[in-house]
Amino acid sequence: MKIAVINGTEKHGVTYRLKEIFLQNFQSADIVEFFLPKDCPSFCIGCTSCFMKGEQNCKDFIYINEIEKTLIESDLIVMTSPAYVMHATGAMKALLDHFGYRWMPHRPAPEMFDKRAVVITQCLGAGAKSTSKDIKHSLSWWGISKIGIFNGALMSDIIWDKLSEKKRKKLTEKINKLAIRFAEINYDRPARTKLFTKIKFIFCRLIQKKVRKSGVAGLDNEYWYKNGWLDKSRPWKH
Ligand SMILES: Cc1cc2nc3c(=O)[nH]c(=O)nc-3n(C[C@H](O)[C@H](O)[C@H](O)COP(=O)(O)O)c2cc1C
Repeated sequence: MKIAVINGTEKHGVTYRLKEIFLQNFQSADIVEFFLPKDCPSFCIGCTSCFMKGEQNCKDFIYINEIEKTLIESDLIVMTSPAYVMHATGAMKALLDHFGYRWMPHRPAPEMFDKRAVVITQCLGAGAKSTSKDIKHSLSWWGISKIGIFNGALMSDIIWDKLSEKKRKKLTEKINKLAIRFAEINYDRPARTKLFTKIKFIFCRLIQKKVRKSGVAGLDNEYWYKNGWLDKSRPWKH
């Protein structure tokens, strides 16, 4: 089993600690980790080259391609971020922006529909929920149906070792519970695509059908056409 981890911070803080506890439940897995901003240090500048001309034209293609290859090869994607002003870290947002072209209305990777993902977020007081939502939003529009969420709130101190024994135990039990749920999955079988994901896809397909009819098909439309999605083929049908 392969796991791709994208850490929304390079800091070995509480998020890192919780992610390590999570991964301990996947001893035999082949794990590849990325740390942001180190592994994707630039912002999307809005050139729209990825949408219009292809992702290989992005100035950051070297970083994006490396991460994307690992994501596509993985069975489970783990994304982590502490809450920064109630949301995902800027580094994580910058990465998600770079993957805008993989959103369903554009050129979703069919492999994503088969995958599972987990989002691990925590904060001092408030903001973990909105942080995980930031990341889940992209994952779901990449086509992933099965997304597990861990939201934690420390409430007392920001250093793991300074948290009370009780608090550490509570957080550990909570993350282990989620990890066990995901460790029990048979990764030889693709994830089940939810009805809501299918509805989103069908809606995007209608738009692409209209574009095709209008005769101004661009890169995205060609992609949908070549995948057979404007016909009977669907990314969740194997
Ligand atoms: C720039 C910045 C913004 C933050 N914003 C929030 C916030 O909105 N809500 C909150 O509860 N904690 C906030 N925090 C605190 C962190 O989320 C908290 O300390 C977290 O445990 C840090 O995780 P780490 O140890 O993995 O870096 C913020 C911290 C920083 C550095």
